[in-house]
Parts: sequence; C-alpha cells; structure tokens
Amino acid sequence: MRVFVTGAAGFIGSRLSKALLERGDQVIGFDNFDPYYAREHKVRHLDDLRDSSAFEFIEGSLHDAELLRTEFEKWRPDAVAHMAAMAAVRYSVQHPLRYGETNVQGSAHVLDAARHIGKPTCVLASTGSVYGTSTPIPFQEDANADRPLAPYPASKRAMELFAYSYAHLWKLPTTVVRFFNVYGPHGRPDMMPWQWTRQILVGEPLTLYAAGIALCARGLLRLSSWCRGPIVLAQLIELGVAWSFRGGETTWVAILLAIPAVVVLAVIFSPATTQALYGRRLSDETS
Ligand SMILES: NC(=O)c1ccc[n+]([C@@H]2O[C@H](COP(=O)([O-])OP(=O)(O)OC[C@H]3O[C@@H](n4cnc5c(N)ncnc54)[C@H](O)[C@@H]3O)[C@@H](O)[C@H]2O)c1
Repeated sequence: MRVFVTGAAGFIGSRLSKALLERGDQVIGFDNFDPYYAREHKVRHLDDLRDSSAFEFIEGSLHDAELLRTEFEKWRPDAVAHMAAMAAVRYSVQHPLRYGETNVQGSAHVLDAARHIGKPTCVLASTGSVYGTSTPIPFQEDANADRPLAPYPASKRAMELFAYSYAHLWKLPTTVVRFFNVYGPHGRPDMMPWQWTRQILVGEPLTLYAAGIALCARGLLRLSSWCRGPIVLAQLIELGVAWSFRGGETTWVAILLAIPAVVVLAVIFSPATTQALYGRRLSDETS
C-alpha cells in the first residue's frame, strides 16, 4: 500500500514511516522542517528512513494547497497519515495564529487533496488536550470536548470537526487518534523526557512547569517499534476502521507522589464509536 505521511520528518511521523516501510509499504513523506525545533533533529529522523527505496520525501508546507493537490494526484496514495502540525500547548499561547494556519487551514488542505483523488483512508493526529478540564474523567471519545484551553487544542478540535464534515460529505474513511504524551527514540527535544535527560546529563536542575502544586504527575506513552505504537497506527491505515486502545505499553513517570493514568484514545467519525473500545473491528462505513 502507498501511504502519504505528513510530518514525516517529525517524531511520530518518522516512526510511523519506519514501521510502514518495515512492513513493506511505500511511504511518501511530506514535511516543511518547521523551525519550532532544530532542523538537525528532523534530518536525523529522515536519515533513518532514506535507506529504503520505498521512501520518497517531499519538502513542502501544508499551507501550499496547490502543492498538496499536485502531489496527491501524482502519487494517488491508498492512505493518508496526517501527522504534521504545530504541536505544544505553551508555544501556542505565544503564537496562536500559526496554529490556526497550520493545524486548521493546513489540515483542511490535506483533507481536500485527499477527497479529490477518491477515498483514501485518512488517519489524523489529534491530542488528548482537546478534553480540557471540563470533560468528565475517565475521558470518552464521544465527549463534547468543546472547551479547549489554548490555541493548540482549539486548532486540533477544529481539525477534527473539519475531518468529520469531509468524512460525512465525501465518505472518506477517517480516524482521528488523540495522542496523550508520547516519547521514545527520535522523540521531540522540547518534551520533558528529552529535556530532563539532557538536564540530568549536564547536572542542571530539572524544569518543572507545575512547580508549586503539591501533587503533580504525568503519564507517558512510549512510541517505538517494540511497543508497537507505530504498528497500531499502521493497522489503522490498513484497515480503515476504528481501533481504540488504552494503556498497554506504557511507561509511568511519577513526580512527587502520584502515579498518573495514561490513556490513548481513538475517535472514529461514526455513531458506533463507543462500541470500538479495546480494538474491536467495526464496519468500513465511517460517515
Ligand atoms: N508527541 C506527543 O506527545 C503528541 C501528543 C499529542 C498529539 N501529538 C500530535 O502528533 C503529531 C505528531 O507530533 P510529533 O510529536 O511527532 O511532533 P513533531 O513536531 O516532531 O512533528 C510534526 C512535524 O510536522 C511538521 N510541520 C509543521 N508545520 C508544517 C507545515 N506547515 N507543513 C508541513 N509540515 C509541517 C514539522 O516540521 C514536524 O516535523 C502532531 O499532529 C501532534 O499535534 C503529539
């Protein structure tokens, strides 16, 4: 199968590409090397993929609707894994407009390019931060999630809603995966595991954003080939059906006293969403 992976130079996009290539798929990677973190990391992520003759890479931006249309028409992928985004909640508070441009408008460009070539299976990366603080716990995929607390989750929720309308109108088999905190090889240098590792190695004090709160905890999901994270995504792409998964290959990080819960949830745009828990296969009808 031929898969168009946006954000292929990023952490999750590059690991997903690797898993797909190892499975024998062809991957068309797309990324603009956004400078939010240093290009050298993204070059290293890609170097890990370039050995494969089944890997093609296009340097381009989600902002360029015409380029996306052209590349989709050229490659006519069977599936689209839309991992490219402006991530990071804190940064979004400083640069809110970039999140609208990339995560909302840019994602609309991807969906639009997809619907023009037929019905490729679409998997879109979203975030657990869409739940905000008003969603009852434990989180449910069909919760309203309509009180995002920063531009980043607001932009991802808007992307989800755009995807819903595309799935409804043009019958694109679509799955949105809401990641929580993911780490692993080729992880993001702005995230806590990388930052703390560096700080420990150079003997600096650890940065704790929630300092002052008595109980502070964060759960992390390890995404690597051994924990099958990318493979689960690859299965989503292959099947075009709903898979929800929780816990599993989880590493716990407890700060002070608490042990957090880690959840990975998937949302499929189907009335049958809630029946999809724990990896049950649904029908291919997703609108
Ligand atoms: N890592 C996590 O813990 C986490 C948690 C929740 C959601 N997510 C989501 O998962 C996806 C992947 O995240 P990641 O951690 O791999 O982030 P990442 O920053 O490593 O990867 C995102 C990639 O998108 C690219 N990109 C940004 N703007 C672009 C544009 N305009 N055109 C083309 N490419 C562009 C970047 O250059 C980068 O390589 C994102 O959608 C993110 O919002 C990640």
